[in-house]
Amino acid sequence: TAQASSALRESEPVIRYEEYADVDWNNLGFGLTRTDYMYKAKCTLNSTFEQGQVTDYGNVELSPAAGVLNYGQGIFEGTKAFRGEDGRILLFRPDQNAVRMQIGAERMCMESPSIQQFVDAVKQTAIANKRWIPPSGKGSLYLRPLLIGSGPTLGVSPAPEYTFLVYASPVGNYFKEGTAPLNLCVNTEYHRATRGGAGGVKSITNYAPVIKAMLKAKEQGFSDVLYLDSVHKKYIEEVSSCNIFLVKGNTISTPATVGTILEGITRKSIIDIARDLGYKVEERLVAVDELMEADEVFTTGTAVSVASVGSVTYNGQRVEYKTGDKLVNQKLYKTLVGIQVGKIEDKYNWVV
Ligand code: COI
Repeated sequence: TAQASSALRESEPVIRYEEYADVDWNNLGFGLTRTDYMYKAKCTLNSTFEQGQVTDYGNVELSPAAGVLNYGQGIFEGTKAFRGEDGRILLFRPDQNAVRMQIGAERMCMESPSIQQFVDAVKQTAIANKRWIPPSGKGSLYLRPLLIGSGPTLGVSPAPEYTFLVYASPVGNYFKEGTAPLNLCVNTEYHRATRGGAGGVKSITNYAPVIKAMLKAKEQGFSDVLYLDSVHKKYIEEVSSCNIFLVKGNTISTPATVGTILEGITRKSIIDIARDLGYKVEERLVAVDELMEADEVFTTGTAVSVASVGSVTYNGQRVEYKTGDKLVNQKLYKTLVGIQVGKIEDKYNWVV
């Protein structure tokens, strides 16, 4: 369409698509669906990223000595494109992902794209893959910006070259539970992050180590794992792929981002929405014992959106929470999604 081609430079591939790809939009989970295009740009150490381009989706060739493969020098982001009821494409706060990638890159000694380049890359990837954006209300196009040390390095050192990629996949609900409440299990053996580590940024190294505990929890019938802090082993931190909140009366509490907790963009959006709806929001140390007395518990994340928690099991003790449509967390969820799909006025200017 004119819209897609005007957004892309002439050197880029001609976009041919029907309005919608051949996808069963009613049964989207959080699996990878191959889409048409991705974005790619490169940069050498101590330099700035070249002008990137949209290319056909495909494999990436790397040296076996690439920094990302050997030493985990990589960070990623997650953001979503939604289709409004009028067909408009809506992106939710991609500038915030850009800022977070820059902070993460600094922590991991990597070069990073400028805010403008990042946002343009996300927009171009979404527009090029427009036919994969689900119909309004059926899900979203998950965009995955990825920054890797692509150059070779044998010794432990920053890679000499960086590659910035953005790929996309249509997604529905993150958890196989769909929108049903999650059953979380507090893990007292493994920790997701430590003080001074990289838990506060979206380093790829934060994710593989949590898979083992997650698989074990799933085997036991839980939806996911809730981690505790590694020093006192009594304060809640986050779930494998999302932040956590509890509600008690009119107060909503969530762990403060003290370096071990991911600075979630959905997390901070929900904090702003909750305050505007009149709730008191506290960011502080939250003891696991408080969970056992909460009225509601919920998780937030880009992939997860806002998910109600139906139960938490800690040291063999299971606590159940109220569930249903009337919950505070469902009000927050509906407000967030309403803004994301253009149904509720975006007084925050979050949607672009
Ligand atoms: C996101 O919410 O975008 C995430 O990064 C979670 C991801 C690990 C699936």
